[in-house]
Amino acid sequence: MKHFVAVSLVVVLTSICLGVDKPTTEIKPDGCVTAECHANVKNHNVVHGPVNVNACDACHTLVDVQTHTYKPAREPADTCTFCHVIDIPEGSKLHEPLVARDCTGCHDPHGGFDRNSLKQPTMNELCSSCHQDVTANMQYIHGPVAAGACGMCHEAHASANPKLLVETGRDLCITCHTEMDEQLLTVAFVHEPVLDDCLSCHDAHGSNFPMIVNDAPGTLCASCHEEVKQAVTEAKHQHSAVMQDKGCVNCHTPHGGDLATLMKDTPVDICMTCHNNPVTASDGRTVAAVSEITDPALVKHGPVSEGSCGGCHNVHGSDYVKLLTDEYPATFYQAFDIDSYKLCFQCHEQQLVLTPNAQGLTGFRNGDTNMHYLHVNKDTRGRSCRACHSVHASTLALHLRETVPYGKWELPINYQQTDTGGSCTPGCHQRKAYDRDAPVDYNVIPKKATP
Ligand code: HEC
Ligand code: HEC
Ligand code: HEC
Ligand code: HEC
Ligand code: HEC
Ligand code: HEC
Ligand code: HEC
Ligand code: HEC
Ligand code: HEC
Ligand code: HEC
Ligand code: HEC
Ligand code: HEC
Ligand code: HEC
Repeated sequence: MKHFVAVSLVVVLTSICLGVDKPTTEIKPDGCVTAECHANVKNHNVVHGPVNVNACDACHTLVDVQTHTYKPAREPADTCTFCHVIDIPEGSKLHEPLVARDCTGCHDPHGGFDRNSLKQPTMNELCSSCHQDVTANMQYIHGPVAAGACGMCHEAHASANPKLLVETGRDLCITCHTEMDEQLLTVAFVHEPVLDDCLSCHDAHGSNFPMIVNDAPGTLCASCHEEVKQAVTEAKHQHSAVMQDKGCVNCHTPHGGDLATLMKDTPVDICMTCHNNPVTASDGRTVAAVSEITDPALVKHGPVSEGSCGGCHNVHGSDYVKLLTDEYPATFYQAFDIDSYKLCFQCHEQQLVLTPNAQGLTGFRNGDTNMHYLHVNKDTRGRSCRACHSVHASTLALHLRETVPYGKWELPINYQQTDTGGSCTPGCHQRKAYDRDAPVDYNVIPKKATP
């Protein structure tokens, strides 16, 4: 190795002094660098201390005056450490070239572009002289990496942290993303992994996804959220809003915010950006607009008035039609089965349709006769809730409908409320009333109104 260096030096020394003959007498230190000889040695923005003072012999030892040959003053590994003690903090792991004491892998012994005597003009080019491009084939590149500022995150010599990093985990990222960190201190809900390691979602150098996230928008989040993943990948009915565009972050904030379940905005506001108008499903169906949800003139169903859609819809995907969280009959008539009304009875008392005798159970009673039971609990042609109630909002109290779709006909109900009951004159039967205090006797055929 020593031999090799000496020989190569001879070759280079010869080649550089083109135009002039090689000296055969001893040269004084201040005579080595002239316009004809070794001009390149000092041709740097910043010249290395000993070179600047012509202490060439600090590193080069004359072997033979006649042939003008030199050898390194000491073992290559000691070339620099003879004068420099580099500060390696306790417990650090050395960068591989430092283990080999290959200081000149990065430093030019004579001088460099700045006072660090580096061989390349930029950090990026320096690192890339040994490392493959860390952003090869990546479409989106992180700001400081694009700027070649590898040194903002990596130590060049040694570090106590893995991968020569200047800091670990999120501390590394928030050295620059201070605003984001400060903002997270002010919000009510912070997403747990954001407190831990930003790299669980981002790649430090770059990626093929916007915002340098390390996987496709939907898959990224699903990797930790198993239940949601199942809904998204296995449910019978899918919601395209979950996987399209920004995926989960169409509706959620990835880092934190003031709304529960990390919602980006109130569910109503988010949903209505699409559902205020009819939308076309991926299977070609048209999904009707639900603009009744934000119509200020209407009475809202409990959860809707609280701005929640989650109780009834599993927006990530569902095995029930209309992305419902449970069974709800799709038809006007329905052979009674309590299980088919599970959706409503998640929140309401199911006795409502199980006992013939109402005993104050419901306002829909005639004396003690439970009119809910009477209409709903039938082996054939039981009326489902939709025959009388709307789900999101209505003009009438108690979410009673004015009309109900019956095939192609909007069947009128003509419901009228009284203090002790009510009446309706629907397309199904003639006017009938119920009265909680003075029960109507249905065996008496009502007199025809005299014209
Ligand atoms: C701090 C040590 C050091 C000092 C001081 C130093 N050199 Fe060098 N020099 C080296 C090393 C090491 C190499 C081998 C370069 C390599 O391996 O990259 C070298 C290579 C050379 C070469 C051959 C390659 C080239 O760059 O042309 C010449 C000529 C040279 N030095 C001349 C000088 C002269 C003249 C001086 C004084 C003005 C000087 N050196 C001072 C360390 C030094
Ligand atoms: C003979 C002693 C000597 C040797 C050998 C030597 N240096 Fe230096 N080096 C100096 C002096 C003196 C300075 C100027 C210090 C100053 O300006 O404060 C310096 C400055 C530097 C600097 C600028 C940063 C700083 O701390 O000021 C770097 C980088 C550097 N040397 C790297 C090297 C490398 C790499 C080698 C081996 C190729 C090497 N030195 C070998 C004496 C030496
Ligand atoms: C992988 C490339 C690389 C290698 C190998 C390397 N250095 Fe450095 N060195 C750098 C970079 C980059 C800087 C500038 C660091 C900065 O700006 O934070 C630097 C800075 C320095 C400095 C000046 C600042 C300081 O830390 O005191 C000295 C002196 C120095 N190196 C000496 C050495 C010596 C001696 C060796 C061999 C034992 C060596 N370097 C090996 C890349 C390297
Ligand atoms: C002279 C060649 C050389 C240069 C220049 C160089 N490296 Fe390295 N680096 C290596 C070698 C060799 C390894 C060990 C093998 C590997 O992991 O690829 C290494 C390893 C690394 C590692 C992995 C460390 C670990 O603990 O796993 C990082 C990070 C790294 N280098 C960053 C840099 C950065 C940043 C620069 C520019 C400042 C740089 N390297 C410049 C040769 C070099
Ligand atoms: C914003 C901070 C940051 C910047 C800037 C940065 N890196 Fe890294 N780098 C990292 C982190 C964090 C890791 C560790 C990644 C991991 O563990 O998954 C890493 C890992 C590496 C590795 C080791 C890869 C491996 O698989 O072992 C190399 C090599 C590397 N970086 C080189 C560079 C180079 C070259 C640059 C400049 C072009 C650079 N880095 C810029 C943060 C950064
Ligand atoms: C050295 C400073 C610095 C560090 C350290 C840093 N970043 Fe950045 N980051 C930036 C800059 C500068 C931008 C570009 C800002 C812009 O374009 O508005 C950026 C942008 C980003 C972006 C947005 C990307 C885009 O395409 O707009 C993300 C995400 C990001 N950084 C994540 C991280 C993560 C994760 C870490 C820790 C591994 C980290 N940053 C560490 C400086 C830094
Ligand atoms: C749970 C995954 C996840 C974690 C953990 C995470 N991010 Fe993000 N981050 C994202 C996603 C997804 C986006 C894109 C948001 C969008 O497109 O609206 C993003 C966007 C960003 C942006 C650019 C836009 C903005 O909101 O400012 C920056 C900067 C950023 N992240 C930095 C960080 C930092 C720093 C950390 C760690 C403290 C971190 N992220 C942790 C998923 C994450
Ligand atoms: C590294 C794993 C991880 C990744 C990746 C991840 N999360 Fe989380 N997430 C968690 C943990 C842990 C919690 C807190 C415990 C819990 O509620 O399940 C959480 C909580 C949440 C919550 C709040 C749940 C609640 O009941 O309040 C939402 C919403 C959420 N994550 C959405 C996302 C989105 C959107 C993404 C993608 C941008 C994502 N998560 C990526 C681990 C992760
Ligand atoms: C269309 C809007 C929307 C999209 C897209 C969306 N979510 Fe949600 N997410 C919600 C709503 C609404 C809730 C329920 C809020 C409630 O009931 O309080 C919720 C709740 C959650 C919760 C809390 C636990 C639960 O299941 O109720 C997690 C975790 C979650 N979402 C993760 C994700 C992940 C991961 C993705 C992407 C695969 C995603 N979300 C996509 C709207 C959305
Ligand atoms: C980006 C637009 C968009 C957003 C935002 C959105 N949806 Fe949807 N939604 C659709 C589309 C498109 C369909 C049709 C089914 C499909 O192909 O995904 C749909 C279908 C539905 C269905 C099923 C209707 C049916 O007939 O199958 C329900 C229920 C629903 N969305 C509720 C919600 C709720 C609740 C929210 C808010 C948490 C929401 N959607 C946010 C676009 C959106
Ligand atoms: C009390 C339960 C309940 C709540 C709360 C609820 N929905 Fe619905 N939603 C339903 C039912 C039941 C259907 C199916 C209606 C039908 O089959 O006629 C439905 C249907 C839909 C449809 C599809 C419309 C169609 O005709 O195909 C959309 C879109 C929708 N809901 C959005 C929302 C949004 C947005 C919210 C939150 C603001 C919400 N829902 C809250 C029960 C509910
Ligand atoms: C997620 C819980 C939830 C589900 C599921 C639900 N409701 Fe409700 N419902 C409520 C709340 C809360 C109220 C308001 C109760 C109050 O104001 O006393 C309400 C009120 C009502 C009212 C009016 C009662 C009153 O006193 O104003 C009717 C009628 C009604 N729901 C019918 C239904 C029907 C039909 C279904 C099934 C399609 C259903 N609900 C599903 C929570 C729910
Ligand atoms: C034939 C019409 C009709 C059907 C079918 C119907 N309801 Fe009702 N419901 C009413 C009337 C009328 C009222 C108002 C009673 C009053 O206060 O005067 C009512 C009231 C309610 C109330 C308010 C509390 C109470 O009992 O007074 C709830 C909750 C309710 N219904 C749930 C349901 C559910 C769930 C279904 C389906 C299983 C259903 N209803 C089916 C007509 C109907």
